[in-house]
Amino acid sequence: MLCRSRDLGARLRRSAGAGPAFGAIWPLRHPRGRLPRLACARPLACPTVRLAKFLAHAGVASRRAAEEVVRAGRVTVGGAVVTDPARDVDEHSGVAVDGRALAGPEHRVVVALHKPPGVVSTARDTHGRPTVVDLVDLPGTRLYPVGRLDADTTGLLLLTNDGELAERLLHPRHQVTRTYRAHVGGGRPGPRSLRALREGVELEDGRTAPAGVREVRPGLLELTLREGRKRQVRRMCAAVGHPVQALARTRFGPLELRGLASGTWRVLSPAEVERLRQG
Ligand code: URA
Repeated sequence: MLCRSRDLGARLRRSAGAGPAFGAIWPLRHPRGRLPRLACARPLACPTVRLAKFLAHAGVASRRAAEEVVRAGRVTVGGAVVTDPARDVDEHSGVAVDGRALAGPEHRVVVALHKPPGVVSTARDTHGRPTVVDLVDLPGTRLYPVGRLDADTTGLLLLTNDGELAERLLHPRHQVTRTYRAHVGGGRPGPRSLRALREGVELEDGRTAPAGVREVRPGLLELTLREGRKRQVRRMCAAVGHPVQALARTRFGPLELRGLASGTWRVLSPAEVERLRQG
């Protein structure tokens, strides 16, 4: 199912329980507008997990970001502030973030968004700019982006409430590939520039890993990276004298952007999520 983003405030204005037809597939909301309780049948059988993991499963943030949320004193357990992310909790511990109680694990969802330009890849922007999360109108689900694209970069961005999957996809150990198309200036890149991009470019945060690079046509390069440093493609191309004029991500791991128009999104199928998980 393809979904076109509504106006950017729509997600915030939607009232509880007014969700789209996803409820038929994903049990996101109870008819009375509350999150379905995915509780264990017998309280004593509920497994305890570390607080940060509990928050990640509840869709608050990735595990690492959840640790920061805890350390910042934003989490209470049974009404008392807890700053230790390793504290053991379960669904009956009364965990709340910023005063809002968590109902337990959310149904896990992964969304593919075709990010348009001018939208920031954070869940909340302190300057009030539109965010990628505003574009995905999926009530009852606290999504956050899997990594970042620059505000002016377009293309494939995943959002999820599955902290473990996000961490797996982003961890350098797993070397998930990302493919970009870059329109570059500075004339047509010659063989030396292309070789340098392929073999590694010296940047201020170290040499880049070997990358796949091909010239699609003069001035348009396709780069496939196995690492995800900040503004990496722009910095690599600038370092070889060909500054990026426009940048789009066309692929993330096994997933392609194809078929998604700018500003639209769709929920990935379980098979697609499994392929992502397998890398
Ligand atoms: N590399 C960049 O330079 N920018 C992006 O947004 C993504 C990769």
